[in-house]
Amino acid sequence: MRAAIVERYGAADVVRIREVDEPVIGARELLVRVEATTVGATDSANRTGRPAFARVFFGLRRPKHPVFGYDFAGVIERTGSDVTRFAPGDAVYGTLAPSPGAHAEFVRVAADGVVARVPDGLSAAEAVAIVDGYLTAIPFLRDGARVRAGQTVLVNGASGTVGSAAVQYAKHLGATVVGVCSTRHVELVRSLGADEVIDYTREDFTDAKGRFDVIFDAVGKRSFRESRAAMTPDGIYLSTVPSLAVMLRRRRAGSTDTGRRAGILFTGLRSGPDKAADLALISQLAEGSSIVPVIDRVLPFEEIVAAHRRVDGGHKAGSVVVAIDAAGVRAGGAS
Ligand SMILES: NC(=O)c1ccc[n+]([C@@H]2O[C@H](COP(=O)([O-])OP(=O)(O)OC[C@H]3O[C@@H](n4cnc5c(N)ncnc54)[C@H](OP(=O)(O)O)[C@@H]3O)[C@@H](O)[C@H]2O)c1
Repeated sequence: MRAAIVERYGAADVVRIREVDEPVIGARELLVRVEATTVGATDSANRTGRPAFARVFFGLRRPKHPVFGYDFAGVIERTGSDVTRFAPGDAVYGTLAPSPGAHAEFVRVAADGVVARVPDGLSAAEAVAIVDGYLTAIPFLRDGARVRAGQTVLVNGASGTVGSAAVQYAKHLGATVVGVCSTRHVELVRSLGADEVIDYTREDFTDAKGRFDVIFDAVGKRSFRESRAAMTPDGIYLSTVPSLAVMLRRRRAGSTDTGRRAGILFTGLRSGPDKAADLALISQLAEGSSIVPVIDRVLPFEEIVAAHRRVDGGHKAGSVVVAIDAAGVRAGGAS
């Protein structure tokens, strides 16, 4: 099968498509023919090996997993002998995180892993585009911030993969949502349901006084110190990007502490069953039209280097999808 291989750290052009062996599945596994995958911020960090301390996880001298990509959508080619939950031909989507491998024509997936049938009405490209954003935004907002109806939630980086999911999920929870992005994404963020959009090239949300119950910095661009005065007296600041200050102030989800708080979660490291339960919730939300996929662009597998470049730029709107084959963009999720 063909897979995109990264054998050394570097710029986007270190990614090469090569022939590799097809995975061999066990009795409780699925072989999925991948139709669509994404290149995301973690793939970009994994490829550059930056920040340097992350090489402890990614590999000290070179990437320890040469095939990147966490999220997949495709069709089951074969099932292991003990699998009853799925059958060949089922259209499925999910994630392999924390171990990559989805930038390939086939992936091996545990049948009881983070995998579900593609929600009705979604193409493979649309299905794969919702995985990372919601598997991140849901635990941040529901478990970390404990967002309640009527609260005011600010989402910084509201047009990115995580931010666009956070805007839609916070609206679903009944919050008043303020999204922050640059001028060219204002209409997009408004269309996702944000009650107000702040264009960061014209206005600085940190100038507000005591306004936001929750500040979710989905792109880690503004610190807790900068954001503090804009929060209500018992507000919470959460960032997707670790900093020493936030790590020191970190509070367990479920903390009853009052006063302005700050925290971070590492959602990719959550247990498989927790993520699988949230994938089921994501399917429900998508089928109920409570959320819509946000796709920056869909590129063919042969252009995966361009996909990496787009992600490196830090200004994509939603997810960059790679269609492994032409079926990756077909409409409808039914097999
Ligand atoms: N902690 C965790 O568990 C976890 C899980 C998943 C992801 N992450 C991290 O979360 C971060 C975001 O990931 P992502 O995939 O959502 O990123 P992304 O899609 O690449 O974010 C791009 C968006 O960021 C916006 N942006 C860029 N500069 C900005 C600024 N100064 N102020 C406000 N918005 C700005 C851009 O909007 P404009 O083009 O309009 O500027 C763009 O739409 C990454 O660092 C990723 O590694 C962490």
